[in-house]
Amino acid sequence: MPTILGIESTCDETAAAVVVDGHDVRSDVVASQAELHAKYRGVVPEIASRAHIENILPVLREAMSEASVGLDDVDAVAVAHRPGLIGSLLIGVTAAKTLAWAAGKPLVGVDHVHAHLYSVMLEHNDPPPMPAVGLVVSGGHTALYRVGSWLDVELIGTTIDDAVGEAYDKVAAILGLGYPGGPVIDRLARDGDPRAVNFPRTLLARDSLDFSFSGLKTAVLYNVRGVPGRGEDVKAGGPAQLSEQNLRDVAASFQAACVDVIVKKLRRAIEHVGAKSVIVGGGVSANRGLRDALTRLPVPAFVPPLKYCTDNAAMSAGLAHVYHRAGRFSALDLDAITYSQFREG
Ligand code: KG4
Ligand code: ZN
Repeated sequence: MPTILGIESTCDETAAAVVVDGHDVRSDVVASQAELHAKYRGVVPEIASRAHIENILPVLREAMSEASVGLDDVDAVAVAHRPGLIGSLLIGVTAAKTLAWAAGKPLVGVDHVHAHLYSVMLEHNDPPPMPAVGLVVSGGHTALYRVGSWLDVELIGTTIDDAVGEAYDKVAAILGLGYPGGPVIDRLARDGDPRAVNFPRTLLARDSLDFSFSGLKTAVLYNVRGVPGRGEDVKAGGPAQLSEQNLRDVAASFQAACVDVIVKKLRRAIEHVGAKSVIVGGGVSANRGLRDALTRLPVPAFVPPLKYCTDNAAMSAGLAHVYHRAGRFSALDLDAITYSQFREG
């Protein structure tokens, strides 16, 4: 039963995990940087890469000691090497290469977004029927995939502007709430009226599997602060003047618009792929409104346990197990690949 040490540092979490046999999570350590970035209401790349440097060795040590394994017991070192912030990626990729080289173990590079999908397999033995539609909804990604197998993952749709998690974070900033915005909007939405404001549902062309969330975000801004150019003062009437109930209603209406769009695109994708199931991953898959809506799809939906929805290294170690079994290893010159290189490529 192969034992894989996984490393994650694509954005603002430094994480390491030990996973046996692709699903048995022996340790899963995540050092979150959320507090460092909170006052900027978003991730500051330079701060993120510095924090990764400080965190990587303690996190690795903790993951290995919690799992009671040494480097000798490990069959491969896995790392999410794309896509992400370059300074952040480089820390994890360099650590993984160094450990693999020093211990004479194979290196396995995985795609962070594919790993988000694989997180449904952690602590779970019942694999989703395939072909499946994969949906990754996070702070950096909103993407649809055709998943023929864990080795055959094809992108079929993506956001043309903001990621859905990014829209949650920006709307939270507009409403004067904290960062990250997803959990707090989700909580407020529970007690709000989703029909209070009819926010736009941008579906693009009739058969499009792409997403757009920037119009929705702007609609929330105008709803809360007024429309510029109509003599309305965008500064006055801001979130401070929203009553608690108004705030909950705006949160619920925004969430309803996001969930509606995601579900409509999922239905299109299920038909397009001839899918037997839907696999959902990424930070926004923790969202209660989305999880409820997924139960009403025509095919079963697989969603990871809450702790594996956000960035972690167990998902990378798990996916690397499949690659390891297939002999898909990486050379020691494995590159870190950023978001923009990824989009161009
Ligand atoms: O997957 P993740 O940890 O990092 C990226 O790869 O981006 O996702 C973080 C994102 C943030 O935008 C956060 O606001 C969002 O996931 N998020 C949520 C919820 N929990 C986290 N969005 C909506 N509802 C939630 N319950
Ligand atoms: Zn992620």
